[in-house]
Amino acid sequence: MLNALNPIPPFANTLVDMFQRDLLQNKRVLITGGGTGLGKSMGRRLVELGADVVICGRREEVLAATAAEFNDVRKGAARWHVCDIRDPEAVAAMVDAVWKVAPLDALLNNAAGNFIAKSETLSHRAVDAILSVVLHGTAYVTLACGRRWLADKRPGNVLSILTTYAMTGSAYVVPSAMGKAGILAMTRSLAVEWGSQGIRLNAIAPGPFPTEGAWKRLFPEGMAEKRMLSRIPLGRVGEHQELADLAAFLLADQSGFINGETIAIDGGEWLKGAGQFSMMEELSDDMWEQMKQQGKG
Ligand code: HXC
Repeated sequence: MLNALNPIPPFANTLVDMFQRDLLQNKRVLITGGGTGLGKSMGRRLVELGADVVICGRREEVLAATAAEFNDVRKGAARWHVCDIRDPEAVAAMVDAVWKVAPLDALLNNAAGNFIAKSETLSHRAVDAILSVVLHGTAYVTLACGRRWLADKRPGNVLSILTTYAMTGSAYVVPSAMGKAGILAMTRSLAVEWGSQGIRLNAIAPGPFPTEGAWKRLFPEGMAEKRMLSRIPLGRVGEHQELADLAAFLLADQSGFINGETIAIDGGEWLKGAGQFSMMEELSDDMWEQMKQQGKG
């Protein structure tokens, strides 16, 4: 469904399937924050495409319910671990436990935290609350998996979910922007450092993909939908499956020459914000004519 702004789009199989159903067969993927939101949508899609997934998060009941849903799609496809990625010891224990069952082929860094605030009101604890998840937690999991791949001499694949403001920065979400920019730097740095050993790292920078968690936290009720949509050239928000399919593509061996790259998926939103003359879309035909005459004069 090409919705305009639906708070929680259904996991839509309304899009034509762009991949072979066994695209990710024999791939084992760890998804941080895989119990809800975009992590869940991506996890479900990876399972549909043949992958086995391990999801981690802080809430056991949420993880168990999501894993059960995934196992309904394909029996035995999903496992879960309770793990707060802010805790390096918990991360090490989880990665040990995961590897005891079988080595991973890929890591999907999806877990994040964010709140909208005037930056001068943020306490140091508020800054740490965001950076400890987004930057530190992501680094802990990535390094723990990378170490294993290097020791085992196995190829690895790390895909991190950023935001478009990792590249531009953004007012009112400064710790999040700092953390996401840090993951972007990690992606590019490790793509070079580990690339020669068969480990590649890429990132996706999504624009607005509605989820219950982020939407409630980030957009005050009543914020004009129209105003938000007007920022996006395509005039709509993203469908979860569109993001999930991009993740599947980057996790597949067939995209194996892509390394150190970040792909925006935002309907052109950030470019519209950046372009100096984007506001000219507000001009009526009469005003265009007037401009033309002015120019001639
Ligand atoms: C200012 C705030 C605040 C707010 C909390 N704090 N909310 N300050 N404005 N809105 C302050 C608190 O007062 C406290 O400081 C400190 O932050 C820590 O607060 P806690 O509630 O104790 O934090 P914690 O329990 O650690 O939880 C933080 C969190 C949590 C881990 C980030 O919110 C969370 O689980 N979020 C996950 C879900 C989420 O955020 N999803 C959105 C991701 S979207 P003091 O000094 O008072 O002790 C994303 C991309 C956005 O990342 C893309 C948009 C299109």
